[in-house]
Amino acid sequence: MSIPGTLDRSRLPQHIAIIMDGNGRWAKERGEDRVYGHYEGVVSVRSIVDACGELGIGYLTLYAFSAENWNRPKAEVDALMELLVNTIRKEVDDLKKNNVRLHVIGDFESLPDICQTELNEAIDMTAMNTGLNLVLALSYSSRDEMARATRLIAEKVAGGSMQIEDINDKTLASHLYTSNFPDPELMIRTSGEHRISNFLLFQLAYAELYFTNVHWPDFRKENLYDALLNYQQRERRFGKTSEQIQSDKPGQVH
Ligand code: IPE
Ligand code: IPE
Ligand code: MG
Repeated sequence: MSIPGTLDRSRLPQHIAIIMDGNGRWAKERGEDRVYGHYEGVVSVRSIVDACGELGIGYLTLYAFSAENWNRPKAEVDALMELLVNTIRKEVDDLKKNNVRLHVIGDFESLPDICQTELNEAIDMTAMNTGLNLVLALSYSSRDEMARATRLIAEKVAGGSMQIEDINDKTLASHLYTSNFPDPELMIRTSGEHRISNFLLFQLAYAELYFTNVHWPDFRKENLYDALLNYQQRERRFGKTSEQIQSDKPGQVH
């Protein structure tokens, strides 16, 4: 599938965030175990990472495992962790070759040691890459992230290196896991659920939200292009009026 000519390459989001949902339902529909859906979901990840690289997207954040997902049956959690290790091991050379830089956000220390080792290795191996920044949200909870940022700020205030009056939204942003990344302009959730599930609550403040019924294992480049075409039809107003936005456009005489 080639990039549609109708897509305006000069107006792509810099950062896309995706809640990859529906692996279990996809597998169930085929009479298979939920884990089969997770395996197939990796094929979609590969295809979307590839598409983002081709489009020159700066950042792609994938919600791969939430802090709440630890509450799933142990067999499924174990299978997901094993899949994570095997996938990173298998893909790291391609990530390196394709100029993709890997990052992880979330409670890294809560992951099994083997996952941490594998991820750290891949993060180091891709650290010099300058293309797509691929951010995996693992054991991630946005509320925990904000509580952690609050603790870090409180420590600085208690230690005297920060004044209470100086705390603003930028201070909070700079203490989140995502401090070095721009906010996502587009958030996609697959599989028909219309919720955020504790994902980037602060960072998505002005993101355009796109929901599709397609289950994640079926999500391919053309589905991403559809989301991007839809995104480009939206008017992002940031509290202003439509008239203001129109007259702010470059090249307009006013
Ligand atoms: C998303 O698919 C993957 C993870 C949460 C790890 P699900 O496993 O949530 O699939 P459904 O929502 O049960 O179909
Ligand atoms: C959100 O999906 C987390 C990931 C995609 C990793 P869930 O399927 O766990 O979300 P809920 O529980 O249905 O809200
Ligand atoms: Mg789900």
